[in-house]
Amino acid sequence: MHATQIRQAYIDFFVERGHARIARANLVPREDPTTLFTGSGMQPLLPYLLGAPHPTGARLVDSQVCFRAEDIDEVGDTRHTTLFEMLGNWSLGSYFKQEQLPWLFEFLTGVVGLDPSRLFASVFSGSPRWSIPRDEESEQLWKDLFTGAGLDPVVTEAGSAAQAAARGIGNARIVAYDESQCWWSRSGPPDTMPPGEPGGPDSEVFYLFPQVPHDPSFGEHCHPHCDCGRYVEIGNSVFMQYRRTQDGFDLLPQRNVDFGGGLERIAMASADVADAFAIDLLAPLLDEIRSMRSAQGSADSEADRRAARIIADHTRAVVFLALDGVEPSNNTQGYVMRRFARRAIRQGLHLGIGDTLLPTLCTTVVSTYRDAFPELVQDEEHIRGVLEREESLFRKTLARGVRELPRLAGRELTGDAVFKLFDTYGFPPELSVEEARAQGVPVDPNWSDTFKKLMAEQRARSRTAATGMFKGGLADRSVATTQLHTATHLLYKALRLVLGDHVVQRGSNITSERLRFDFSHPKKMTPEEIARVEQIVNDAIARDWPMRVSEMTPDEAFAQGALGAFGDRYGTTVTVYTAGDPTGEWYSKEICGGPHVAHTGELGRFRIVKEESSGAGVRRIRAVLE
Ligand code: ALA
Repeated sequence: MHATQIRQAYIDFFVERGHARIARANLVPREDPTTLFTGSGMQPLLPYLLGAPHPTGARLVDSQVCFRAEDIDEVGDTRHTTLFEMLGNWSLGSYFKQEQLPWLFEFLTGVVGLDPSRLFASVFSGSPRWSIPRDEESEQLWKDLFTGAGLDPVVTEAGSAAQAAARGIGNARIVAYDESQCWWSRSGPPDTMPPGEPGGPDSEVFYLFPQVPHDPSFGEHCHPHCDCGRYVEIGNSVFMQYRRTQDGFDLLPQRNVDFGGGLERIAMASADVADAFAIDLLAPLLDEIRSMRSAQGSADSEADRRAARIIADHTRAVVFLALDGVEPSNNTQGYVMRRFARRAIRQGLHLGIGDTLLPTLCTTVVSTYRDAFPELVQDEEHIRGVLEREESLFRKTLARGVRELPRLAGRELTGDAVFKLFDTYGFPPELSVEEARAQGVPVDPNWSDTFKKLMAEQRARSRTAATGMFKGGLADRSVATTQLHTATHLLYKALRLVLGDHVVQRGSNITSERLRFDFSHPKKMTPEEIARVEQIVNDAIARDWPMRVSEMTPDEAFAQGALGAFGDRYGTTVTVYTAGDPTGEWYSKEICGGPHVAHTGELGRFRIVKEESSGAGVRRIRAVLE
């Protein structure tokens, strides 16, 4: 089965078992400033895993596009990608292990047709330290499933991954790992979970690629959690039934299943190829890159193949980021996108592809995904425009920067030179470092500290120079400015309610006359949307909610879901302003230095006077209080 068929078959399989199909979430997570991108299927479902009733029921299924930018440096081999699809099914207090594991086994072997003798399972061995018992139920279920498939269900105790690598797993089919491997929460194993965080034991399924020899640089013996590529994890059933407390764990009000399956990896197993770039979602990109190159008639070295994989991965990522309203810029999500886009272009240069790399490959991504994600087709023009602009901008600065780099760097690339390249040519710092290395120029190991110091100094200068701005974009601290500042919080919340997940603050500037608020949104707001936002803000004003302020650490604030201007650096404590009903949908919570009015009722009537573009993918609202 191809990935495209597997996706559909998976959704159908779980819909037949009473699951409601839900739409994928935006890649920029809603109400979760702790993370820049949606990196797993459960992230948008957190409130429901904690017990809130989901509007479509207690059994859900989807295919969530996920982006893990932190894996950027791994990309280039045959296995790692930063963007991937996570097949997900959830039980919100409905079924549990007895249904989940047999269904998963049936789907993998009966529907996708994987050979059971190539499947291996992990189970949680228990944690005496946290008084959490061994997952005997999953162990028994796997024993029954493997026995039913005619296989000997030998179990082994692996401990941690390091212990497994030292000991090996013999002829085991079921491997019991400790909490360092078989426990899942957004923040990792039990001891790194903050209070309130849900998590639980997990049970993974691995597929063995016997054609891949074990690479001893990953450890003496191979085992399912070895990273050499011989075993590939294709799915993980998390039995999310615990919540971290200050010194231990409580049970959640319900027992949940949170399953995540790697679509690309299941497709690799189905095709029996240990290469993610050979499957139907990525191979067309490599074909296109090859045909763009063939004009040069050059041969394919391993370095070239690596470059092509980086281009394919990064282009696919930036196409989906553009679809979800991200625009290349110099901060937060936009910065990550810029780095990916520019890295792809640079790799293209190494392959001799000198022009329109991203727009050409955008067409390939859209046609590959057109049935699964028709929104790509609808927004194709916008996405291509975003990529075209970024590419042409970068090609100009690249040509200049590459010429200047040896002169600026001299004998060694220092943080000062990296800053200069960033400031003058818009070179992302990591790119300068990569380019210097490519040109054989040594790099000062402390470049990053110097660069950060220079950036902080530049920010401080621009805050106080010319503009006369206080922190937070306030022109002064008059009553009128303070009122408009509070109105800005209400506006931000209302925009997210009306327009959706992707609205993120991009800038704010407030005088005593008016507020100006920039935010990510791909198109002009309709008159109805504007009216609805005005109405929501005016309702909030009419309710006369108190603006409450409290102090906490940034980690606590983020754990409680406070919004913050991404990329700001926070000290050890932050002030958090809230307004609204903490149990309801209307609740605004922002990390902010103030000042604010005491009650929203002090604001008068809110009116939007203008809604306009402020750069591609960013809208600007000017509003007044009357
Ligand atoms: N939430 C689990 C994961 O991301 C399924 O692996």
